[in-house]
Amino acid sequence: MAKLEARGVEVEYMNARTGKRLTALQDVNVDIEQGEFISIVGTSGCGKTTLLNAIDGLLPIKRGRIRLDGKDIKGPGRDRAVVFQSPSLLPWRTVEDNIMYGLELQGRRRDLKAQETVKSLIRLVGLSGFERSYPSELSGGMQQRVNLARALAIDPELLLLDEPFAALDAQTREFMQAELLRIWESTHKTAIFITHQIDEAAYLADRVIVMSSRPGTVRKAITIDLPRPRSLHIKRDPKFLSYVDEIWALIEEEGRKSGSLAAAVAS
Ligand SMILES: Nc1ncnc2c1ncn2[C@@H]1O[C@H](COP(=O)(O)OP(=O)(O)O)[C@@H](O)[C@H]1O
Ligand SMILES: [Mg+2]
Repeated sequence: MAKLEARGVEVEYMNARTGKRLTALQDVNVDIEQGEFISIVGTSGCGKTTLLNAIDGLLPIKRGRIRLDGKDIKGPGRDRAVVFQSPSLLPWRTVEDNIMYGLELQGRRRDLKAQETVKSLIRLVGLSGFERSYPSELSGGMQQRVNLARALAIDPELLLLDEPFAALDAQTREFMQAELLRIWESTHKTAIFITHQIDEAAYLADRVIVMSSRPGTVRKAITIDLPRPRSLHIKRDPKFLSYVDEIWALIEEEGRKSGSLAAAVAS
């Protein structure tokens, strides 16, 4: 049995102002295995965030089903944690209290094990010494480390990441990609990572899912057969570059169909 199973998933939005319906996802079929790292790429507006939100249980599904560990997803749950593009930290809380947040909601603030978890996550994401800092005192990259630690704190079955590095400068972004892999190697959480940066998708993933443009569906799933652990040097490997070319060609084609290539390239 796959860890996550999506079958014939259709999601529709209703524009409250015009009353028009928009099919954002149509017949999405995906199987994700335990411990797998999946990247999802596609042109802007193809439905990546919609798919992630459906998996997170935030959006109703019109047709089809999504199952996690064999159980239908019916709403948000503790078994899933999300990291968004913009750090969603609580500004009045310190780093350690932000990471503690999810555990606190489970009534575990005073629990010694929860406190140990927070400490070891701070070490894992490389924020030792910043336990008592506030989000405003941290760089964008450091804030995303806190977000990642906060997501991992509740020990989710599934880690969902929606363009978590999109707001970072290019150099920090590369560094954070390598950091994410280092952290992932030590937890091996099943992860779904959304990005529209192709080399980021290929560098991180076991498989890259390329989505077609609206209505979004799976265009192709490409297995990235490169050894782990991966260092950033692998981005110069001819095999890596040929994966990037293959993905790029598919996205270019989808972009041409939807007329959104300019937007995809610009963003
Ligand atoms: N809340 C919403 N109401 C209506 N339409 C939406 C809403 N959210 C997204 N959409 C539309 O659904 C499509 C997919 O959006 P989204 O999943 O955000 O794409 P992506 O993350 O791939 O850029 C887009 O055409 C977008 O305009
Ligand atoms: Mg999005």
